[in-house]
Amino acid sequence: MQLIHTVSELHARLANEKAIAFVPTMGNLHEGHIELARMARKRGTCIVVSIFVNPLQFGPNEDFDKYPRTLEADCVKLQGLADVVFAPAVSEMYPAKQTIYVELPPIANELCGEFRSGHFRGVATVVLKLFNLVQPQIAIFGKKDYQQLAIIRQMVTQFNLPIEIIGAETSRAADGLALSSRNQYLSADERTEAVYLSQTLAKVRESLVGGANGYAALEAEAGAALAKRGWQVEYVAIRRQSDLGIPVEGERKLVVLAAACLGKTRLIDNLEVCL
Ligand code: PAJ
Repeated sequence: MQLIHTVSELHARLANEKAIAFVPTMGNLHEGHIELARMARKRGTCIVVSIFVNPLQFGPNEDFDKYPRTLEADCVKLQGLADVVFAPAVSEMYPAKQTIYVELPPIANELCGEFRSGHFRGVATVVLKLFNLVQPQIAIFGKKDYQQLAIIRQMVTQFNLPIEIIGAETSRAADGLALSSRNQYLSADERTEAVYLSQTLAKVRESLVGGANGYAALEAEAGAALAKRGWQVEYVAIRRQSDLGIPVEGERKLVVLAAACLGKTRLIDNLEVCL
């Protein structure tokens, strides 16, 4: 495994690679990230993992400064899995002030986008830059960030990027909590409570599978149940899997998504529902 910090070294290392599978991350790797790297290992001959905490996707009051940076430990975890770890400095990724962005469709301002203004614009812009630098044939993203995955799929299609996007299932702790670098911000009590997010989504799924179709009432009920337990709920939403649009009656491929804060920690999760 080779640790690379600069664009010029990256170009030199990848010049003759023909089947690159790419996993973009912000580091502080957990089992969910490692699973993506394992999937990449099965799909490409050269596995590139990027580790870059992207300032463009953090709002002014978000956790950019305190986001955990653990490059050494991350590299140990990627030993034998990644061929290249690309960990550029901010000045390497943004040598000039970024004034050109990927302009996104309205879905980027809904769900998480409603509460994180400009977030997905920052994500899409850095992912496009990373795609241009790494030039992978395959890129793997987690369904944990369902809206991110949907937006990247649309970007790849609409910009004719010759990259196959693979969505990987969400890795969870034994009690069902989706793994996230932000889980470590939770106190012991909050960690115990955190499991109710996935359980609440599972209840909505149960109702949908049982034939309930009053989406707005199901969303409101789930949000109220979390709020009653002390969560600050941003949204619980039932959407169409394909483009996260509001489902029309009879839609069979749904996803239930939620974002809510426990204390200062913001958690997101989702569950697909196929009727
Ligand atoms: P990060 O949060 O580090 O996540 C990197 C990748 O790991 C994403 O595709 C994310 O969906 C996936 N992932 C995180 N937790 C997961 C879990 N529990 N199960 C499965 N996959 C999981 O997402 C980002 O970084 C950034 O926005 C990035 C795409 C790198 C752009 O900066």
